[in-house]
Amino acid sequence: MVSDERWPLVAPFSTAAARRSVLSGRVAVITGASRGLGAGMAAHFASVGLHLGLCARHRPDLVAKTRPRAHDGRIDPPETPLVASVDVVDFDALDAFSDAVIQRFGRIDLWVNNAGVLEPIGAIAEAAPDQVARHIEVNVTGILFGTMIFARHVRSRPGEGVLINVSSGAGSRPYAGWAAYCGAKAAVDRLTEAVALEERANGLRPYAVAPGVIDTDMQARIRATDESAFPQVRRFRALKEAEAFNSPSWVAERLLELAFGEHPVSQVRLRVPMQPPGAHDG
Ligand SMILES: NC(=O)c1ccc[n+]([C@@H]2O[C@H](COP(=O)([O-])OP(=O)(O)OC[C@H]3O[C@@H](n4cnc5c(N)ncnc54)[C@H](OP(=O)(O)O)[C@@H]3O)[C@@H](O)[C@H]2O)c1
Repeated sequence: MVSDERWPLVAPFSTAAARRSVLSGRVAVITGASRGLGAGMAAHFASVGLHLGLCARHRPDLVAKTRPRAHDGRIDPPETPLVASVDVVDFDALDAFSDAVIQRFGRIDLWVNNAGVLEPIGAIAEAAPDQVARHIEVNVTGILFGTMIFARHVRSRPGEGVLINVSSGAGSRPYAGWAAYCGAKAAVDRLTEAVALEERANGLRPYAVAPGVIDTDMQARIRATDESAFPQVRRFRALKEAEAFNSPSWVAERLLELAFGEHPVSQVRLRVPMQPPGAHDG
């Protein structure tokens, strides 16, 4: 199994009509969809006709107002998303949310474990133990819980399912000040590779995807950190000055290519390529 971070997809859909017909009516779940990357991906998925189950600790209500766009001269309006307030470390609540999505839409085709936290930032020697424990719970246990629930669903019904665990460049590169985050994202990469070995024969295609840098609340908090706690902070401030970000739509479209493109990708760990300046999102 090839397992590196190059982006392998160049022409994922042969025609715009093929793209529309393969995407329309698909069902996706996104965790951590109340703001940031998760909310932006939800809006993009809704705009191309996917039915959505969205959760976060705060109900992701905003996305319900997204209007579908015309594709290839046609509009395929999805149903109103099913939204819920769920903490991903609460297995029973996440499982009940998954059941509700399946009951509403019949099945789930794509599950994106996006919910994540960055804090604590700074030397781990100085961190609060309860914050470190909570970090690992959200960023690792939460991802494992979503993975378990979706893998069981895919085993229970015919056809394939695609799991995308949102990772980070910090999973493969160390950053001083981010020990918990680097450790958690490295765990996400490796656990996803293990799940690929376990569940491929059962129809699950799992990926760990580093999305690039997106200008969310998380980035704002990074830029506001003192250099003594996070020595790389200037690099992130420079990205803001250059507006060198991937937009949530750009990331979302790459995930759709990965999940539903005509050439299934066997690589498990991937990194979304940088969005060229002025590039169209979709
Ligand atoms: N932004 C970047 O440049 C970047 C780069 C690499 C990787 N990532 C990854 O991308 C993902 C999204 O990041 P972001 O930048 O959008 O972060 P963000 O702006 O801080 O948003 C995080 C989202 O996760 C939700 N969340 C946090 N803890 C949760 C919990 N226990 N249960 C359920 N939902 C929870 C939050 O909603 P509530 O507060 O309502 O729960 C929010 O919707 C994360 O996994 C992050 O590590 C981001």
